[in-house]
Amino acid sequence: MTDYQTITAEDTVLRDGSIKLHGPDGFAGMRRAGQLAAQILDDLAPLVVPGVATRALDDFIRQAMLAAGAVPATLGYRGYTHSCCISVNHVICHGIPGEKSLKDGDIVNIDVTPLLDGWHGDTSRMYLVGDVPLKARRLVEVTYECLMLGIEQARPGNRLGDIGAAIEAHARAHRYGVVHEFCGHGVGRLFHDAPEVIHAARPGTGPLLKPGMFFTIEPMINAGRPNAKMLSDGWTAVTRDKSLSAQFEHSIGITEDGCEIFTLSPGGLHKPPY
Ligand code: MF3
Ligand code: CO
Ligand code: CO
Repeated sequence: MTDYQTITAEDTVLRDGSIKLHGPDGFAGMRRAGQLAAQILDDLAPLVVPGVATRALDDFIRQAMLAAGAVPATLGYRGYTHSCCISVNHVICHGIPGEKSLKDGDIVNIDVTPLLDGWHGDTSRMYLVGDVPLKARRLVEVTYECLMLGIEQARPGNRLGDIGAAIEAHARAHRYGVVHEFCGHGVGRLFHDAPEVIHAARPGTGPLLKPGMFFTIEPMINAGRPNAKMLSDGWTAVTRDKSLSAQFEHSIGITEDGCEIFTLSPGGLHKPPY
């Protein structure tokens, strides 16, 4: 564990609040880490079925990362001891893998972050377990649209708040709640860096977007009220009103004329059904 603890320490020590601007080497590094992350999410699709224990999915993810020469960035991160987060139904984020099995009708977010050659590829997708009711599938679909509408705003000249504004407007139009307690974040050599990417914002606010900025966009959208509650394990965040919650996440880099999505699915498995 010592090595992982060092990574965690660096995360806090090297964070200085500035928004870093990266060059071609950074783009190349993030492309590789992001593509590994996305490939792992592709490979998980056939494994996310009724009866599978979430611990088995965590084991698969850890082995896939290690086999590719990467380390799960979550392992040892602030005391977290797993290789991914698995958030089922009313769990908003940071669900801890364990012995519990997935069941028919569940909606599940799996969030992975391989650290490959010093770069963090952070991405998550929703999976549908067996037969999922229309209402839940609708939430998943709209949450994916929220992410992509946010990404459309990610270009030089726009401000960070334009991303959250696009996400919030779409969620609101469907009477969904946008979670405020958790944000996207700068990403790169550090797992969680500046800026904070809020998913409900006013247009034209926040830092100006510039080529070379790397960050995640990872909206968490609730079928009901936006409010979150922490469970006593210190990690799991759930909806206060027990409504379903969905999330998708990409790591992106701002380019001269838009952005590059580092974590696009190599197999075209962007959203369910896969
Ligand atoms: N991958 C999550 C994110 O999108 C962070 C998980 S940290 C953990 O930022 F410790 F909970 F795994
Ligand atoms: Co993230
Ligand atoms: Co993530």
